[in-house]
Amino acid sequence: MFSDVLENPADVYLRPVQIIGGIGTGKTSTTIRFGESLESKAMEKKIKLKHVYVNLKLQGSGRTVLYRYLLEKASPEIRTTSLSGDEMLYQLVKYLNNKNMYLMISLDEIEYFMKHATEHIIYDLTRINELSPEKPCGVIGLIIISRGTDYYSLLEKSEMSTLGRNYINFPQYSNLQIRDILLARSAEAFKRSAVSNDVIEFIANVSADPPVNGDVRYALDLLLYSGNLADNRGSETVTLDHVRLVHGKVYHEITSQDILDLPNDEKIVLLALARTLKHKKSAYVSFEEIRNNCALLSEELKIKIENIDYAIQDMGNKGIVNVKSIVQIGISNVPTEDLITYIDSIIDRVRSDLNER
Ligand SMILES: Nc1ncnc2c1ncn2[C@@H]1O[C@H](COP(=O)(O)OP(=O)(O)OP(=O)(O)O)[C@@H](O)[C@H]1O
Ligand SMILES: [Mg+2]
Repeated sequence: MFSDVLENPADVYLRPVQIIGGIGTGKTSTTIRFGESLESKAMEKKIKLKHVYVNLKLQGSGRTVLYRYLLEKASPEIRTTSLSGDEMLYQLVKYLNNKNMYLMISLDEIEYFMKHATEHIIYDLTRINELSPEKPCGVIGLIIISRGTDYYSLLEKSEMSTLGRNYINFPQYSNLQIRDILLARSAEAFKRSAVSNDVIEFIANVSADPPVNGDVRYALDLLLYSGNLADNRGSETVTLDHVRLVHGKVYHEITSQDILDLPNDEKIVLLALARTLKHKKSAYVSFEEIRNNCALLSEELKIKIENIDYAIQDMGNKGIVNVKSIVQIGISNVPTEDLITYIDSIIDRVRSDLNER
């Protein structure tokens, strides 16, 4: 789709591309790698081209925040404080034209933005050409990444029309592909011979089959936690038993990346929720109980936590927390029998992540 853009970038009008695929199918890593490769090919040809990747779950609380982020990444010299969203886009195009620069924009997790923000960005961004009708605007591509097409229903007709319904489908990874990825990644992370082929094969099997359905992030997590367990038990190698134990206990739909990506105050609220659930040994607790636990935690960690209800709402939108009602709040998709072990692992993860920061 972009193989010809470096031949004559000044003639390229913005090309919108959608990438759609399930959890852990390599959408984000492929896009980032693609951007790097395009940048370096451009550099060889002495073309100034930049790829700006935006994860809307992290940077997309609204249109202005997003455009400010784009502008700051693409043109760090421009001061953005007093500019409106429209002005920022205009400045961006002007800057690109003045500097003979080109931009490729990738927006990841668009469905999160669409569910969360009331503003519309696709219309602006896909029609950014119209800001400089006399010549192409310098933004050569807009890559939009999502897990499915559900968010189409939240788009306006005009947005749907510029975006189009064509997309690149990222199918789930097959058993063999997962095995391949695990081999490559374990060679980077483990001592030689600490992970046998049997272990890799087993992890690939459980990750390719339902309910994991080819989520390679889960496969990598499973390898990581099995390695941790082996370490903790003083074992020189990761055994099938380590993997079985970890797989049996921690299969769930929240990955360590999801937790890592949360802002600190949300991590603390999640920790408070997990603690309350554990203490009450129930699948749901009330907002009031979470708030009380948050107060304790905030004292313990010496961090002030504001907006607990926003944090819960936001984690609800991200699919981590399940909010049935104000007195029924739980953690998503956890079978009751596994709840306690699961919550322990969440508490550990949140704690270690908070400590690292
Ligand atoms: N082909 C691959 N080779 C090596 N590692 C990979 C490959 N594909 C994915 N991974 C690793 O798997 C993890 C998940 O991949 P990625 O983040 O790209 O998935 P995704 O499709 O964006 O998932 P999500 O929908 O949850 O955002 C990452 O840690 C990534 O580095
Ligand atoms: Mg992703």
